Amino acid sequence: MAIGILTGGGDCPGLNAVIRALVKSFYQKLPGEKVIGFLDGFRGLIDNKSVNLKTQDVVGLLPKGGTILGTSNRDNPFKFPVMVNGKLEFQDVSDTVIANLQKHNIEVLFVIGGDGSLSIAHELSLKGVKVIGIPKTIDNDLEATEFTFGFDSAVRTATKALDMLHTTAESHHRIMVLEVMGRYAGWIALYSGLAGGADVILIPEIPFNWESVCRKIQKRKAEGKHFSIVVVAEGAHAQGGERIVAKYIKESTDPVRLGGIGQVVAEHLSNCTGLESRVTVLGHLQRGGGPTPFDRILATRFGVAAVNAWLAGKYNVMVALQGGKITAVPISEGIKKLKLVPLDSEIIMTAKATGISFGDD
Ligand code: F6P
Repeated sequence: MAIGILTGGGDCPGLNAVIRALVKSFYQKLPGEKVIGFLDGFRGLIDNKSVNLKTQDVVGLLPKGGTILGTSNRDNPFKFPVMVNGKLEFQDVSDTVIANLQKHNIEVLFVIGGDGSLSIAHELSLKGVKVIGIPKTIDNDLEATEFTFGFDSAVRTATKALDMLHTTAESHHRIMVLEVMGRYAGWIALYSGLAGGADVILIPEIPFNWESVCRKIQKRKAEGKHFSIVVVAEGAHAQGGERIVAKYIKESTDPVRLGGIGQVVAEHLSNCTGLESRVTVLGHLQRGGGPTPFDRILATRFGVAAVNAWLAGKYNVMVALQGGKITAVPISEGIKKLKLVPLDSEIIMTAKATGISFGDD
């Protein structure tokens, strides 16, 4: 008997910490059995590329960023891209995946992923594969769990960037615009903006009004504050406006990724205030580096809880943090809808109470 593990979708700090926790806790309970790690996400299951993971393979993994198993965004076994007579077609290769799982005698597949990978895990479960999901993403946008690991580490990086932008903004009397990730959700922008003392935070959940944002910066200027810090979530957009980067946010398969809304905001604010502006697109720095202590602990709790859920006979569930405790919910619940920032949340009210503008007044 063996268990399988894979990491799918965009990487984030804490993936290795989960792998380590899974492997360690599994061998403590079942020393004679096997852990098979599939390489590069679902690609490894399609091509049958895997490694045998032993306890010594996970030594030193806790602080290490990325994933030792590799990952991929593109390889969905239910829509697998194949060139047929020079034309791109999408085929269902899920039977190959199931055959490969059987070859390794896999009893249960642990899928560490965001909404995309967990949706694939759910589809596999409908075909009889036993799966357990472990939620990860820097975006923190999974409804079933209060936090995903990776988020805290991304917020740390964005906050550090804001601290550094502050000093140069002040010296040069400039508007500094920081574009952060998060897809359709504004969690990273909101938390880092609050932690990093931003003057304006623009998030997808609150379409902004250009005049309101300009007014905020002009007011600061009139008060003698000739610099401002603006955090823009990549999915933010003006009222009635299109999302500038909607395509790459949705598909994430473009070969090249550029900045988007941050540049538009910087240009607009410079024009309406007469101040110089500069834009920083933080990009994949937010996904790099090691996990924070919070993420190391959450990832470890998730890994151990996933093994325990399986040992307790649970399948087709994902582990989640609810009310500060780790629990297991049906995967179908976890992927039902994205978790956006609630407009009446205490954290938004706190930010507004300290004078931060969301461009909506
Ligand atoms: O979902 C995580 C995330 O980093 C998003 O915040 C971002 O929109 C996307 O992935 C970037 O994907 P890629 O690495 O394919 O550019």
